[in-house]
Amino acid sequence: MKIGIIGSGNVGGTLGKRWAKAGNTVVFSSRDPQSEEMKKLLSEAGSSASAGSAEQAVKSGEVIVVATPWPATREALQSAGNFNGKVLIDATNPLKSDLSLDAGMTTSGAEQVAGWAAGARVVKAFNTVGNNIMANPKFAEAPASLLYCGDDADAKKTARELISQLGFDAVDVGPLSQARLLEPFAVLWITMAVKYGYGREIAFHFMKR
Ligand SMILES: NC(=O)c1ccc[n+]([C@@H]2O[C@H](COP(=O)([O-])OP(=O)(O)OC[C@H]3O[C@@H](n4cnc5c(N)ncnc54)[C@H](OP(=O)(O)O)[C@@H]3O)[C@@H](O)[C@H]2O)c1
Repeated sequence: MKIGIIGSGNVGGTLGKRWAKAGNTVVFSSRDPQSEEMKKLLSEAGSSASAGSAEQAVKSGEVIVVATPWPATREALQSAGNFNGKVLIDATNPLKSDLSLDAGMTTSGAEQVAGWAAGARVVKAFNTVGNNIMANPKFAEAPASLLYCGDDADAKKTARELISQLGFDAVDVGPLSQARLLEPFAVLWITMAVKYGYGREIAFHFMKR
């Protein structure tokens, strides 16, 4: 698959590197594609990865991932051009500096992203685990579950394939409005990891019977 990454930091860099190593073609975007950080990322990702602008990442990708800091997300998406029906995986969390959310229970960051990214089919995914879990979702008991949601069935199928490629247990939790619950769920992971003593090597597993 051809994947464009908008925001190639902890999240975008980790996901893009793993997908590039799994045989996908990845374009990492940056405001400075010639930076030393980008050179390092490209050397780690291997020959199927390259760097460019956000617009180039959108043009070249069949699937785009947005992983920018929340305050930069609107501008990053609006400067990236038209998505022309492409799948946009929103991995952001609309976090304020005190770790509370900049969206209530009547909307979500993902629904705002869908309004900003012209023509995109948005799937919310990867926001509920740390980038260290994206690097390695394996645990002794079971793989970490990765909850995702969206309104477009084909877009969700594509996202599911990419989630599964990384070794996650992919769980469809419904329409994009379910991001109103996935975003506070991310805050649960973050606060357990960084405030309440569990550390970052934690993940949830979904069970059903
Ligand atoms: N870190 C985690 O474990 C984690 C887990 C799940 C979700 N998230 C969410 O994922 C998002 C990214 O987090 P992160 O930790 O990967 O952040 P990060 O390491 O700071 O990376 C974000 C990237 O976005 C780019 N960026 C920054 N400001 C920008 C702007 N004004 N316009 C365009 N691009 C800009 C930067 O790239 P350039 O400087 O090269 O342009 C930077 O590398 C956040 O919304 C976060 O809440 C994080």
